[in-house]
Amino acid sequence: MKVVVVSRSGKEVVKGGIVIKDTALVSDLQEAIYSRAKKFYPSRQRLTLPLPPGSKVKPTVLDPKKGLKEYTEGNADSLTVVFKDLGPQVAYSTLFFWEYLGPLVIYPLFYYFNVYKYLGYGGERTMHPAQTLAMYYWCFHYFKRIMETFFVHRFSHATSPLSNVFRNCAYYWSFGSYIAFHVNHPLYTPVSDLQMKIAFGFGLICQVANLYCHLLLRNLRGPSGSGGYVIPQGFLFNIVTCANYTTEIYQWLGFNIATQTVAGYVFLVVAAYIMTNWAFAKHRRLKKLFDGKDGRPKYPRRWVILPPFI
Ligand SMILES: NC(=O)c1ccc[n+]([C@@H]2O[C@H](COP(=O)([O-])OP(=O)(O)OC[C@H]3O[C@@H](n4cnc5c(N)ncnc54)[C@H](OP(=O)(O)O)[C@@H]3O)[C@@H](O)[C@H]2O)c1
Repeated sequence: MKVVVVSRSGKEVVKGGIVIKDTALVSDLQEAIYSRAKKFYPSRQRLTLPLPPGSKVKPTVLDPKKGLKEYTEGNADSLTVVFKDLGPQVAYSTLFFWEYLGPLVIYPLFYYFNVYKYLGYGGERTMHPAQTLAMYYWCFHYFKRIMETFFVHRFSHATSPLSNVFRNCAYYWSFGSYIAFHVNHPLYTPVSDLQMKIAFGFGLICQVANLYCHLLLRNLRGPSGSGGYVIPQGFLFNIVTCANYTTEIYQWLGFNIATQTVAGYVFLVVAAYIMTNWAFAKHRRLKKLFDGKDGRPKYPRRWVILPPFI
């Protein structure tokens, strides 16, 4: 079979095309492109089927695990694919590791080192129990996330664009610094002892629940991350589609009620907004995949992210 690889503007990416076995997979084609154009390793490539000029529909993305023949529509001798360079890629675990390492390191720096004396707040700082517990709570949270990244999550996408590392690190590292600066500030006023203990206790329960949700999500897929999307079942997933986001948001609420800073609440609102958008997309995807037609199960009625509101 001959495969012609063109860019979106119609220019040939691999001069003269590629001759490949009829039984080849899309991943074999990606390797063949890589061997001819060394810059474009397979995870950098997005291959789609060409669309008729002026068409507004989304192009079909070629699945690396499928055979090329599945895309030839009866004509097994030739195929034209459209190539897009996705740019430099990093593993998902690398992306998550760097974005979480920042807050894990930055927060204790504000706790242990009196950076405030360089900002005009001379003298000794007395740390309140709320500030100490907040530091442990925070570090536990980000340490847990790093551990989950390496030992729990089974990602369906192997890589993410390198540019996301810079974007996500900017988000997590700057919010981490902003909150750490205010919670560890010499002028910090703690909430009552009772409020602090109840809120941290509630937050900790939500963190454990969040870990449990991630373990349930892990078990939806095989060890290689294969198996596509499945209806999540069990524990809070029986009532809410994105129970992992629900518990994430509520654990930040616990942290904020215990520490009470504007910085912490700003982060909570931004994080909740981002997760709500993702949760709606995931809910829609599951409803579309499990539509109850042609023998497919019907996605049950569930809240999207924040019962009893959304
Ligand atoms: N504070 C913040 O700003 C913030 C923002 C986002 C996330 N987080 C935290 O980070 C955690 C991970 O976030 P995430 O967005 O990666 O979570 P996620 O997309 O909900 O999923 C976690 C893992 O489970 C898989 N998964 C989800 N639904 C599935 C289904 N129906 N069938 C099979 N597998 C499924 C995902 O696969 P895929 O690889 O296919 O997606 C992913 O590997 C969150 O739960 C939350 O605790 C925090």
